[in-house]
Amino acid sequence: MQTKYILSEKEMPTRWYNVQADLPSPLPPVLHPITKQPVGPQDLAPLFPMAIIMQEVSTERYIDIPEEVQEIYKLWRPSPLYRAHRLERVLDTPAKIYYKYEGVSPAGSHKPNTAIAQAYYNKQEGVKRISTETGAGQWGSALALACNYFGLELKVYMVKVSYFQKPYRRSLIETWGAKVVPSPSMDTQAGRSILDQTVIGEESMKQMEMAGDYPDVVIGCVGGGSNFGGLVMPFVREMLRNGKKTRLVAVEPEACPTMTRGVDAYDFGDSVGMAPIVKMFTLGHTFTPPGIHAGGLRYHGMSPLISELQRLGLAESRAYHQNPVFDAAVQFARAEGIVPAPESAHAIRAAVDEALVCKQSGESKVILFGLSGHGHFDMGSYDRYFAGELEDYAYPEEKVKEALAHLPEVTPA
Ligand SMILES: Cc1ncc(COP(=O)(O)O)c(C=O)c1O
Repeated sequence: MQTKYILSEKEMPTRWYNVQADLPSPLPPVLHPITKQPVGPQDLAPLFPMAIIMQEVSTERYIDIPEEVQEIYKLWRPSPLYRAHRLERVLDTPAKIYYKYEGVSPAGSHKPNTAIAQAYYNKQEGVKRISTETGAGQWGSALALACNYFGLELKVYMVKVSYFQKPYRRSLIETWGAKVVPSPSMDTQAGRSILDQTVIGEESMKQMEMAGDYPDVVIGCVGGGSNFGGLVMPFVREMLRNGKKTRLVAVEPEACPTMTRGVDAYDFGDSVGMAPIVKMFTLGHTFTPPGIHAGGLRYHGMSPLISELQRLGLAESRAYHQNPVFDAAVQFARAEGIVPAPESAHAIRAAVDEALVCKQSGESKVILFGLSGHGHFDMGSYDRYFAGELEDYAYPEEKVKEALAHLPEVTPA
């Protein structure tokens, strides 16, 4: 009975897959925050290295992963794919459950896949110093790791409550040589390319082949959409090019229901109206994220690419409250051993529910989910769950309506 499916370093993907080559039509244009006109690469140059901007607009199907980036990826990639035999047994389900584990990266999540690439391209363009924002600290630690490898100075603005509540994420960032300062809020998740995360999906595809299965359903949690996108995009390619059929399920918190209760509209990528305006599912850029324990899932918008998947009917979405998410996290930890990040536990909740549907119907479906990170820095949240202190909070409809009243006025092209 095989539990882990492991690829050798030689089998690690050497190209990122770009779904834009296979979408039926181009994404809606990105607009300038002031002129509200479509932006060109030059408009974004003050914000991002040109190589990253060109990746975002590229319609090439594959983009080579630079050698230096591949070499660093090899510190933890290829990451393992597990068959969750023990969880299946506990659930008494005929479903086959697989999970792709990204918690093996040094920062403990999928975020270094993008951070390493971003640091590399910044270095290539002569950048010496970077500053970034981080919510719960996952992105800040991933970029600290990356900047350390490329000799870049990094200053991380960390949301004040996490700065005090997650002191060890802060220590981790400092260990890799970056500076951390508390920040009143987090503004943007812009520039965290999904494309750089598709290594996850390409590896999963090969590993599922090793296991002799193809997923009927692929599940991931969504904050900005990068780990979900990274996992599902190669499966989207198979749907669009080869007629394969797979359900894709994006899972979010009830407290930040971007895809399930937001609108499909043009909105700013940040909360202060300085970032480019994109067409996406959004709760409005003035949305105030409530303090939930999956800090990485509190973003008002959704990546334009993931939004497009939902628009085209290629992906579906669902939302859960914190307590059922932690119920699934603990059930998973007791069966499989790994203590999941609260963000990733949203995907576990959905995978468990899919497996329970199979139990009812007697179907032996193949379920794949993304375990985007471990929860070793989130044990305080587990303590609060065990103490019965977690509140189930659905973002109020009036507040959604109020935030949507502030969407920018644009005349779409
Ligand atoms: C473990 C983990 N999973 C998922 C996410 C959500 O981000 P994204 O949707 O960009 O993958 C985060 C963000 O901090 C995270 O830390």
